[in-house]
This record gives sequence, structure tokens and C-alpha cells, in this order.
Amino acid sequence: MNHNALAIDGPAAAGKSTVAKLLAKRLGYIYIDTGAMYRAATYKALIQNVDLNDPNAFSFLDNTKMEFHDGELYMDNENIASKIRSHQVSNNVSLVSSHIPVRIKLVAIQQKIAKNANVVMDGRDIGTVVLPHADLKIFMTASVEERARRRHEENLLSGIESEYTRILKDIEKRDKFDSTRLYNPLRQAEDALYLDTTNLDINEVTDNIYNLFIAIINAKRSE
Ligand code: DC
Repeated sequence: MNHNALAIDGPAAAGKSTVAKLLAKRLGYIYIDTGAMYRAATYKALIQNVDLNDPNAFSFLDNTKMEFHDGELYMDNENIASKIRSHQVSNNVSLVSSHIPVRIKLVAIQQKIAKNANVVMDGRDIGTVVLPHADLKIFMTASVEERARRRHEENLLSGIESEYTRILKDIEKRDKFDSTRLYNPLRQAEDALYLDTTNLDINEVTDNIYNLFIAIINAKRSE
């Protein structure tokens, strides 16, 4: 059976996960936060003290279970949603996610989930690599200052220690690394819709994407 898929890519803290979560809820689809999976791999590597520079040091992923329940990631049956948001994980996740063996493993899990369910998936390479046949692809961005402001607010609301200037620098560094890595970098798919949300209301953005997606799915049904 051909399941429906909505792909949202873009740089760090562009509002992807907020919009994706709202859309998944409204559509009754599964929300897959692929960034959380790269963070989880980084978190486990840090705990196991492996050499983060060595692409071959991640074979532990072969015996790692990653599953989503209600939009939250469970690794080896443990809810790790908050543990993967630390500065230490954020500072190392770009490096870990640039390793080919890590990407091959996590992309396979993502594709398997999308094969068996309707999904809203967000990340960096969803429209280009993971789900090249997604029904709708969005490339969502916002100015780096606005993205840092949003992430800072999000952290404060979740009780995570936060400093605006540090976040701004971290985001700039991560974006540069993610878009210049050799293997599957962050890039807009040719058939993706470009959306700059700097001055847009997130609820309005969600409504617009929802309406467009429903129109596409209805047209697909009547084909
Ligand atoms: O969405 P996020 O900021 O939580 O993602 C964390 C990191 O994971 C990001 O800096 C790049 C990487 N990532 C990736 O390479 N490919 C994805 N599909 C999702 C995230």
C-alpha cells in the first residue's frame, strides 16, 4: 500500500518540528523527528565513550532500537526526549550525522517507518534522500537571529539552561557544517516549496501547509 508522506526540511530551529507536530496531529499521521535520531546516536556514542571522529565506531547502532511513540523518541525502550537536547549533544551531532555508516543506518529506519504508515517527517535530507517521492515537500527557513530567538524561548519554556548569543553561534556553526558536508548535505529538493517563516505566524503556516497537503492527497485519491 502506498502511504502518504509530508516532508519538511530546513536549517536548525526553523520551526520545522513545531509545524510538523501540529500537522501530524491534525492529519492523524505519525510524526518522525529525524534530528532526534541523530541526536540519540550522538548521545549513546558519548555515553559509550566512542571516538566521535571515527565513522566506523558506530556499529553499536546495529543493536540499537529507535521507535517513536506520540512524537517522542525511545531508544532501547527509554524515553530520551529531554536527554538529547543538551549542549554536549548539540555540539557534536553535526559531526556524528556527517558519517556515512550512521546515515545509512538511520535513513533505513526512517524509510521503513514511512513504508508502513502515513508520516510527517522533518530533517535535512527528507525530500532529497529519505522520501524523494513524498506527496509534499517543504523547505522551511527563517533568519538565523529569529531561529536563535525561537530556540532560546523553547529552551526557557522547557527549563533548559539557555543563552541567546551562544545559541546563535551554535546554530550558525551547525548550519554551515550540515550544508557543506559531502554526503547528503542540507539542501532544498528541486520540487520542494520554499518557505521563509521569519515574519510568519506558525499557526498560519500550519494552516496553509495543511490545506495544500489535503488538496494534494484528495487529488491523488481521485486519480
Ligand atoms: O533537527 P535537529 O536540529 O534536532 O538536528 C540535529 C542534527 O542532526 C542537525 O544538526 C543535522 C542532523 N540531521 C541530519 O543530518 N539529517 C537529518 N535528516 C536530520 C538531522
